[in-house]
Formats: sequence, C-alpha cells, structure tokens
Amino acid sequence: MDLKDHIRGIPDFPKPGILFYDISTLLRHGSAWRTAMARLAEALRPHKPDLLAGIESRGFLVAAPLALELGLGFVMLRKPRKLPGLTIGLNYALEYGTDRIEMQADAVPKGSRVVVLDDLLATGGTMAAGISLLRQAGAEVPCAATLIELTFLGGRSRIDVPFESLVSYDS
Ligand code: PRP
Ligand code: MG
Repeated sequence: MDLKDHIRGIPDFPKPGILFYDISTLLRHGSAWRTAMARLAEALRPHKPDLLAGIESRGFLVAAPLALELGLGFVMLRKPRKLPGLTIGLNYALEYGTDRIEMQADAVPKGSRVVVLDDLLATGGTMAAGISLLRQAGAEVPCAATLIELTFLGGRSRIDVPFESLVSYDS
C-alpha cells in the first residue's frame, strides 16, 4: 500500500504559498491507518523503547496507538500550561516568534529509553525541542519518528538521533 495515496496536499493552507499535507484522509481510512501504525511499530522495535512520547497535538494521534501496538506507555509533551503538577518546559524558535512545550517532571524514569513521535517533520524545530526536553527530564532518546518528512526543509539535520519517517516529500 502506498500511504501517499491517503495523504492530501492542500494548497494555500494555513497561508498563501504553503502546501499543507493533510493526514485527515489517512486517519479516516481504517486499513491505511492500521498499515501506517504497523509500519512505524516495526521501525521503532529495533530501538527498544521503554516509553513513547507524543508532541501535542497531532503527535498524540501517532504516539497513543503506537504505544498500544508496542505494549508500551505513552507520555504527553504538551503546549504550555496544560499539564497539572510539577512541569518542566523548553522554549524553542519558530520561523516567526517562539513556542514552548512542557511535560510533567516525573513523567519518565531516569535513563529510560523514550522514542519521540510527531505526525510531521518540517523545519525540525518541534522535534528537536521534544528530544531536548526529554533529555532534560533524564531520558535517553534512542530514536525519533514521524509519519511524514518534508525533506526540502532539511529538518533531519537538526535531529541528533536516528530518525525514521514513513513518507517523504521533496517539494
Ligand atoms: C506541526 C506538526 C509538527 C510541527 C512540525 O504542528 O504537527 O508538530 O508543526 O514543524 P517543524 O518541524 O517546523 O517544527 P502544529 O504546530 O501545526 O500544531 P498541531 O500539531 O497542534 O496541529
Ligand atoms: Mg504538531
């Protein structure tokens, strides 16, 4: 199955000139979505994760079912001020402005192997921040993965761990 048959490119969203790769069509096609999760699970298994982490919000859609598939727990990396209790966070640069992700300070055991997941790698800023935050929490990050990689933005160069993606676009 070619997963690209289930991903739409929508022009001029969210801004003129941007081609948005929409996974809604993949999510609502039961067997294509199951295939995507099974392929990612196989890609992650050799990295022997103890836990998976997903980056809000579309990263949750990937990490939660994969955690079930692999029989692992799942940790949320969230937008600011969403998590209760003691949290740690990291600010990171966007093309214009900054963003921040947070996690619960006690979410991962020290030295545990946590694989970070998101739906898409563009500039890589979000994923790089997720990896840094997990390290700050004491985790090891053996691998990061997304469904989609926009290779023309070069985000992979910002990821200092093995990186897996299922589908890539070069424009
Ligand atoms: C999108 C996408 C990734 C990130 C990739 O998230 O889901 O998380 O951007 O971009 P980058 O590689 O340039 O950092 P978005 O901020 O649109 O939010 P959402 O997941 O809540 O829809
Ligand atoms: Mg996102």
